[in-house]
Amino acid sequence: MLIVLFVVVLFYVLEQHAAYHSPLYGAELEWTPRKQGLKDLREWAAQKAMEEARRAELLRNLNTEKMVVLGRDIVHGRGLCFNCHKIGEAGRGTQGPDLVDIGARAGNRVAGLSDVEYLAQSLYEPDAFTAPGFRPTMVPANGPPVGLDDLEILMVIAYLQSLGGTPTITPNTKLSYAAESAARVQ
Ligand code: HEC
Repeated sequence: MLIVLFVVVLFYVLEQHAAYHSPLYGAELEWTPRKQGLKDLREWAAQKAMEEARRAELLRNLNTEKMVVLGRDIVHGRGLCFNCHKIGEAGRGTQGPDLVDIGARAGNRVAGLSDVEYLAQSLYEPDAFTAPGFRPTMVPANGPPVGLDDLEILMVIAYLQSLGGTPTITPNTKLSYAAESAARVQ
């Protein structure tokens, strides 16, 4: 019995000690009571693991249709697009064009650019072409304040295509704006 108790206590002490020296934990120590900090750290780690699992699951099952739905969530939410745009009845922004039929006209905006290419350019390099009647105030969607990643931008493009057009984006669509190069779409 005593031995069991001893082992339990030993494990507890070792665990506290390990957590105390964890580099992740370092910053919290200065201002949070240690116990609370540990609890937060565990919750944070658990949440992070869940997010990663969810993301992996999502990636495994991703298709055009789901990308449209997820892209809509971004555009209508944390993408902050509605600060400057509206989409028909949704959103109030007037700094940029109403995107209600962007899927229909994206392919006719710039000679030589397909709808996907034009939408990618609008998001990664908004100043390359300024929509007539507007001022070039849009910031790249992959930079601050929103900082969408390449996959999220693909989802946004899929959604924008669906507004009056036909989504063709898949998880494997390659845009040469993505990651290393900053030229045009392949
Ligand atoms: C700070 C304001 C602002 C924000 C935020 C913003 N935009 Fe824009 N956007 C503009 C302006 C202004 C234009 C027109 C000028 C230009 O073409 O650069 C534009 C143009 C566009 C165009 C081209 C429209 C056309 O008719 O050719 C697309 C597509 C677009 N934005 C999508 C988005 C999406 C998607 C988001 C969110 C991820 C977003 N924008 C966020 C201001 C903004």
